[in-house]
Amino acid sequence: MSSHEFPNWHLESLTAHAGVGYDPVYGAISTPVYQTVTYQHPGSELGPYDYSRTDNPTRHAAQEALNRLENGAGALLYTSGMAALTVLVQTLQQGDHVLITEDAYGGTYRIMVDVFSKFGVSASMVNTRDLNQVEEHLGPNTRLVIVETPSNPLLHVSPLRELADLVHSHQAELAVDNTFMTAVRQRPLELGADYAVYSATKYLAGHNDVLAGAIVCKTINQYRRLYDLTNATGSVLGPWDTWLLLRGLKTLAIRMDRQESNARSIARFLYAHDRVQAVYYPELAEDSIKTRHMSQASGYGAMLSFLLKEPDTYIALMDKLKVILPAVSLGGVESLITHPYNETHRELPEPMRRHLGIIPGLMRLSVGIEHIDDLLNDLSDALRS
Ligand SMILES: Cc1ncc(COP(=O)(O)O)c(C=O)c1O
Repeated sequence: MSSHEFPNWHLESLTAHAGVGYDPVYGAISTPVYQTVTYQHPGSELGPYDYSRTDNPTRHAAQEALNRLENGAGALLYTSGMAALTVLVQTLQQGDHVLITEDAYGGTYRIMVDVFSKFGVSASMVNTRDLNQVEEHLGPNTRLVIVETPSNPLLHVSPLRELADLVHSHQAELAVDNTFMTAVRQRPLELGADYAVYSATKYLAGHNDVLAGAIVCKTINQYRRLYDLTNATGSVLGPWDTWLLLRGLKTLAIRMDRQESNARSIARFLYAHDRVQAVYYPELAEDSIKTRHMSQASGYGAMLSFLLKEPDTYIALMDKLKVILPAVSLGGVESLITHPYNETHRELPEPMRRHLGIIPGLMRLSVGIEHIDDLLNDLSDALRS
């Protein structure tokens, strides 16, 4: 436990103080990196820590910081977002079924098809914007629904409160992959979800230098079940990577403000550009979608996608950009551009990609903290050429 008190603090203060108050010996402001596997017992009794797969003070500090941001019952940190999702699905039994947002991150689809199907856990992809479709796919063996909103890469918005009610009325659990929004923009547990799941590699860590995943649980029972499973399977985040995550977390709120403000300007610029056919960004969506999003989030985030009028020009565009770097991943301080059709979503079968609108002219932008003029000039030059 931290020696620090956090009575009704704002998110900006909670993030800035992530990991403060965890050094009982010297009072170090920055949580030390406890690079140890094991802990000397006081006499024959066990101390607060025993073995680092089970718990580690650096990881403990970061987990408490994340949990505080979400108002959860407990948080756990993993070696990657996929490791976090894997442990979540491992709570299921043979014969169980999972529903997933149809345009969720391609890797989420891949572990279900390539890994869990072998263990008798099936999955269906469904349009989670449409409650009727979700209800049709909720079978007696559906135990878990994994939703991304806004989704990746088309920024579709699913109604979280209504989904939580529907999923719970079928005795299933709702997990929200909140990677794009983070707790500073959207708090799934307060909207009724059972789990907020993260690729902490993205905004939470924020600097494209650490792979990490996280799950924050709504109830203590859910937390204990995941804690035991995590201790048994062992994909826990190491102390150095945890420290990098904690360090990144401290600036999450201001990074998010800056990245979102840049993204809003870029979305408007692209919307008005004659080489761009469509822009996907919740602020530019039709009123009902925008209202739905803002009823469950406090901002639009910094991810957007756009469709080029001439799909073949995507290679030239990526070649010409200088400030915005062609690279997968997202959520870091540097702006990155991705071609979902060939990169993040190539795991999806081609007909499915086309059905979802993940077509060759679609580009996804993760907007960083650079000066907005540099970003707009970069895009303007690259699109003109
Ligand atoms: C929305 C989303 N969820 C999960 C993941 C997987 O996370 P990781 O790459 O940290 O394993 C990603 C990765 O891009 C993602 O974008």
